[in-house]
Amino acid sequence: MNGLDCDPTCPFTVGRAPTLDFPVGQIHRVSMRSSSSSDEGVDETKRNLLKLLAIAGVIGAGAGGVVGGALQYVQPPTVGLGSYPKTQLLDLDGSALTVDTALREYNWKTSELHLFNYPLQNEPNFFLCLEGAPFKPLGGIGGPNQTSDPNSSQGPIVAFSAICQHLGCPAPAISYYPPGTCPKFSPSGVNGPMSFYIHCSCHGSTYDVTANAAVLTGPTLYALPQIILETDADGNIYAVNMASLNGQPVNGHLSNLTGGYGVGSSQQLTKDTPTILCP
Ligand code: FES
Repeated sequence: MNGLDCDPTCPFTVGRAPTLDFPVGQIHRVSMRSSSSSDEGVDETKRNLLKLLAIAGVIGAGAGGVVGGALQYVQPPTVGLGSYPKTQLLDLDGSALTVDTALREYNWKTSELHLFNYPLQNEPNFFLCLEGAPFKPLGGIGGPNQTSDPNSSQGPIVAFSAICQHLGCPAPAISYYPPGTCPKFSPSGVNGPMSFYIHCSCHGSTYDVTANAAVLTGPTLYALPQIILETDADGNIYAVNMASLNGQPVNGHLSNLTGGYGVGSSQQLTKDTPTILCP
């Protein structure tokens, strides 16, 4: 039972549990590649650490001993960031992503997921353009009187972490579902048939896109972190910070900024399709 008032034809209520039911306590952080990829399940942090160890071994051999060189790096280096970077978002083709482009090319009705990594390389986030939707999401940009305050700024363009705050399932297992996907979904009576939500197919957590990704259904206890977006005078879009209703870091972090390698000064959007569990 996932707590949703949905009929059996809803994509995430059909066959959900047997297909994607990760045991409690299992750390699940996979790459964003398709299930056919031989790299499935590879943790970017581990991959980078292995590269460092390999390099250390070569350096150590040159300096007089493989063992000595490798031992120098047995203790994993602390990785992470000291502060949130300002990262420019790039469109799928690598060009600067602007508000005008997003309003023109991105559609809240699509079932495609548009993602970018921030603030670390293995941390995907949803990029949602909700222009034309019957509400302005909190913390959105691209609207009148835009501010960087997630509780006062209201614009059509928003971004939320695509790592579930329950046990860390990443997109596409956690997905944005456009209105109409599950018409009966109205747990609070306010969304009704035009609900906008993000749902995790691993164990059924659901988040409210209209309200800073607040929790609609558990088992998660925490809202999805929201990425604070800004624009410059030319309308270019930047990720500059993260915030969460509960003050919680992204799942799997000791703090918001440790446990991985930071993204560069720009990040390009990628595209994926949600995990739909029924034919
Ligand atoms: S990881 Fe359990 S609901 Fe998402």
